[in-house]
Amino acid sequence: MMRLKVRRSGPDGKSVTYVTYDIDAAPGMTVLDALFEVQESQDDSLGFRYSCRGAICGSCAMTINREIRLACRTQLAGLAQAKPMNLRGFGALEARVEWERASEVLVEPLPNLPVQKDLMVDLTKFFEAYRRIRPWMDAREDGRGFSKMSPDDCARVEKYANCILCAACFGSCPVCDKDPEYLGPAALAWSYRFIGDPRVKDLKDRLGLASGREGAPDCEFVYNCVKACPKAVAPASAIRALRDLMEGRGSRLKGQDL
Ligand code: SF4
Ligand code: FES
Repeated sequence: MMRLKVRRSGPDGKSVTYVTYDIDAAPGMTVLDALFEVQESQDDSLGFRYSCRGAICGSCAMTINREIRLACRTQLAGLAQAKPMNLRGFGALEARVEWERASEVLVEPLPNLPVQKDLMVDLTKFFEAYRRIRPWMDAREDGRGFSKMSPDDCARVEKYANCILCAACFGSCPVCDKDPEYLGPAALAWSYRFIGDPRVKDLKDRLGLASGREGAPDCEFVYNCVKACPKAVAPASAIRALRDLMEGRGSRLKGQDL
């Protein structure tokens, strides 16, 4: 038996309550499975997002035991003893309600984004930042299409392209909590994915946005984004590379690693 303690709220995130649900935790059951169990057998009004159930689509990021995780990749068994992420706390991530870690799993929505209902947040702001950094590349002006990349060029930027846009980094970031203008870790990781690509031709515009007040200079290198990312993207590494470029250190084609 496992007890879920779920933060529930009505439309527009209002009327907040914490509701407990006891479920039979089958071996291998994930938090997402448990939410389905609640929805199917106890309360079909419970709202949450998912799609792939396989840590690919990025839809199910939420706060689980006060850490940011993908619900479909987090098994109930052993969660109480799981190695802590050691996220640095900030307002939205800190205690809202008491819970018994040994016997309960606390499930809350992703911080730093408006709650729509229960565990569903409005991702508009997150995707607006992603669109602003122009996550695409235009074909070369000579009309011959894309040029090739060397293996070294690929290695420098490919980990940033592993991002599944789950917003776990955005939800775990204390700067996103306090600065509504900040582009956030994922958008900046994608920004460097293109700035660090030798085929990009509009480098000046891209660097202009990334080095603006809402860009890399706003990062405080707390590294919550690195700890929370389920795909080992390490956005802070890209932000460090952007900062080095802005401050005249290194070449844009020289990667940085934490
Ligand atoms: S960088 Fe990691 S945590 Fe952030 S959106 Fe991409 S996959 Fe999710
Ligand atoms: S349901 Fe797709 S990442 Fe969890």
